[in-house]
Amino acid sequence: MFLRNAISVLAMIFLPLTISGHAQAQDTKEKAAAVKDEDGKYLDAEGNPTFKIQDDGTVDWYTFSGYRRYHADCHVCHGPDGVGSSYAPPLINSMKGMDYGTFLSIVAEGRKNVGGGKENVMPAFGENKNVYCYLDDIYVYLRARAVGDAPRGRPPKKADKPQAAKDHEASCMGG
Ligand code: HEC
Repeated sequence: MFLRNAISVLAMIFLPLTISGHAQAQDTKEKAAAVKDEDGKYLDAEGNPTFKIQDDGTVDWYTFSGYRRYHADCHVCHGPDGVGSSYAPPLINSMKGMDYGTFLSIVAEGRKNVGGGKENVMPAFGENKNVYCYLDDIYVYLRARAVGDAPRGRPPKKADKPQAAKDHEASCMGG
């Protein structure tokens, strides 16, 4: 009992510290605005990958691809369309406070949070080509869900697959 109380007291002291230690500026639709187009891959003002959704609902290739990859490897825990489940947090919320580098390292290395009597495990995907060859796609898709206007479900219209995406896929999946 004492131990348990001591742990929760420590958690109350240290948790906010850890959280604020990792505090990052919130991602917003404005920050995610595409300012550069590199052969169908869009970048924001900081050079991070981002989405582009046309007025008629057509999404860029990477957003569409990320939708498919997410629903192949992430949705079992994080819920359809990133809305979360009883197993794992809603990424449409998480992504608002997470930068690109943090996202990449969590997905590559995984994370284990043992607390409150239950163990939450985020598996490491650093060895899984079906995920790491498409990390940008998944990032862009989730970013579009979190701060963009990507609706739930399969995007109705998509841009053609750019040559750069074909080349990257061939070298990553083949290598
Ligand atoms: C086996 C279940 C499972 C699968 C599959 C899974 N995750 Fe997770 N993920 C978790 C759990 C549980 C957590 C919370 C871990 C924690 O509490 O530290 C998590 C946390 C995360 C976080 C951090 C969220 C935050 O709020 O800090 C990100 C980002 C993430 N997952 C991305 C992904 C992506 C992308 C995929 C697919 C490639 C994926 N996850 C697949 C279980 C899973």
